[in-house]
Amino acid sequence: MKKIQFDCIILLYTVYKTAVIFLDTIKIKSRAKINLTLDVISKRPDGYHNLEMIMQTLELGDDILIKKSGGGVTVKTDAAGIPSDGRNTAYKAASLFIKEYGIGCGVEINITKRVPAEAGLAGGSGDAAAVLKGMDALFATGITEKELLRMGAEIGSDVPFCIMEGTALAKGRGEILERLAPCPKFYVVLAKPDEGVSTADIFGSLDAGSISWRPDSRKVIKAINEGDKNGVLNNLGNVLEEVTAKRLPVINDVKAFLNLHGAGGALMSGSGSTVFALFNTEADARAAAEAAKKEFMFKDVLVTETFNP
Ligand code: C5P
Repeated sequence: MKKIQFDCIILLYTVYKTAVIFLDTIKIKSRAKINLTLDVISKRPDGYHNLEMIMQTLELGDDILIKKSGGGVTVKTDAAGIPSDGRNTAYKAASLFIKEYGIGCGVEINITKRVPAEAGLAGGSGDAAAVLKGMDALFATGITEKELLRMGAEIGSDVPFCIMEGTALAKGRGEILERLAPCPKFYVVLAKPDEGVSTADIFGSLDAGSISWRPDSRKVIKAINEGDKNGVLNNLGNVLEEVTAKRLPVINDVKAFLNLHGAGGALMSGSGSTVFALFNTEADARAAAEAAKKEFMFKDVLVTETFNP
């Protein structure tokens, strides 16, 4: 009897990559990212900027449950202030998937948020990436990664990287990706000032002609290839940091504080406002996070680690 029950359970679910499918429902994790480098190369006629950045996936992520429904898309999250309508990236991803693949039913999406919003951590982009991958598995559409990346780029510049995960060099809007060797493992403290920033606002205030110092992504790639942690730490850089720190000077204070509390290096991620700091041991990361919590009293001070699939 026990054996039959066990066989039934085995029949009822299939493990698909990082997702668990159970009949008409799939549970999938989305993951946050940080930028080890971010350089703005030029402004484009379409209003976007050409970038060069080294992106790294983090273990920290949201849990996403996608359930087949009668029709339409509904999104619920457990976090205040996150829209659940067409402004939500998960909603956009599900609607695009249903439209492009002629899916005959709808989906209900439930998101347990752990990645802060307006943080430069691709919280929204990661959710969109997970919905695309999750719906591909749930509806057994068997889409190629190239096609998933194309759909992702329609939703947002960071979505293709969130689909790919790992360590990558991103160019263009962020959608031209070259997979890199896995970055050496770091424990990561994320300290997000309570005030977030809008990516569009930060790019809008950037004067691309006045950038005085740029990170050298080639040096970081060399260090990654050689497993040289110090080489990575010594070459972190983000040209948007100065722009965002003009609005939120606390970003400079957080960086200095985390460097003083044992970080190998600290930098703002993406367009901000999160500052990340890299550590060799979890104990050092946790100690610095505790100190930062007391000092700055931010709602979000988190400890995670780099993730490579
Ligand atoms: O692509 P995404 O919707 O995430 O971008 C948000 C905003 O950030 C864009 O509307 C644009 O103002 C700015 N952006 C940019 N250049 C990029 C990516 C984003 O100017 N490469």
